Amino acid sequence: MSTDPVRLTARHVPLIERYRDRLPFAEGDPLITLQEGSTPLLRAPLLSEMVGAEVRLKLEGANPTGSFKDRGMTCAVSAAVREGAEAVICASTGNTAASAAAYSARAGIRCAVIVPEGKIAEGKMAQILIHGARVIALDGNFDRALALVRELTDKHPIALVNSVNEYRLEGQKTAAFEIVEDLDQEPEALFIPVGNAGNVTAYWRGFREIGVAPRLFGMQAAGAAPLVLGHPVEHPETVASAIRIGNPARWEDAMAAMTESRGAIRAVSDEEILTAYRLLAAKEGMFCEPASAASVAGLLKYGADGASQVVCVLTGRGIKDPHTAIEHNDGMIIRCRAQMDVLEEAVLG
Ligand code: F0G
Repeated sequence: MSTDPVRLTARHVPLIERYRDRLPFAEGDPLITLQEGSTPLLRAPLLSEMVGAEVRLKLEGANPTGSFKDRGMTCAVSAAVREGAEAVICASTGNTAASAAAYSARAGIRCAVIVPEGKIAEGKMAQILIHGARVIALDGNFDRALALVRELTDKHPIALVNSVNEYRLEGQKTAAFEIVEDLDQEPEALFIPVGNAGNVTAYWRGFREIGVAPRLFGMQAAGAAPLVLGHPVEHPETVASAIRIGNPARWEDAMAAMTESRGAIRAVSDEEILTAYRLLAAKEGMFCEPASAASVAGLLKYGADGASQVVCVLTGRGIKDPHTAIEHNDGMIIRCRAQMDVLEEAVLG
């Protein structure tokens, strides 16, 4: 009998336990978990009406560190611990680093992260620092950081936990299982932001493993759209800092996923991303980060392409990037003297 007085429901089971039969972990292996996965699939009434399809949002911001990265990180860090690693490292636009820092803290191993200096959202930096990771702020972009960290881990025994690590994709594919379990019907189309292209690759792997094949529509920011252009972008730029990537590591895998699924890779402008970002928050009550809103921006721009069941992946929580929210919103702050008549005017006027 368990000595843990907490009764576990599906929602509380660590991702590796929930899907152990489909993941490369055996009973008794070390399990580094923060109870990730099992995230909500929320109906979006306004979006559904706007595009004439049933639209649902996969809320990956509900993961413990606020992004989908936790699915892959529980696997990558558990495997690193199983292999005796004492330290992990990653290059990151912020979320991978925040997740690596949290899971390393939990595992009691060291963590170093390499981030483009001045280019990651404030909330993510706060997470990385409070978890005690070593932050290396690189005078270069994400693509350069990833190239350097790959070279470094070839020379030193430090586990690389970017999505070039197979365990990351194994963990992330579980989101596809959850979507199919939660929907009455199979999804016909999945809209998803694409940066380093690990996540779209993982979703396709997950869907294929359980024999379903929704069309995958990958969305890149127009200023950082190498897959759309067909060549690397040397100086990627976008308000969606999480996907400010010019040379994705999973390029071929991602393109194969979109071709095989009869989907497409498309670009959305920063303006379109911010419009979707504000609409999600103001009309659907869902505050995601700008990169996540690229999926919905794509749905609004290109339509559901005949699909009646659509899922948009919201990859990360809005509070990670307070700066962008404060800069780009339609809300208002009214300064007010602490006096009833002035207050009445401010509230009712
Ligand atoms: N959305 C968010 C919020 C992300 O943080 C990322 C990637 C993506 C989408 C794109 O996913 O790279 O698998 O295509 N963030 C990485 C990071 C690059 O370092 O946190 P992808």
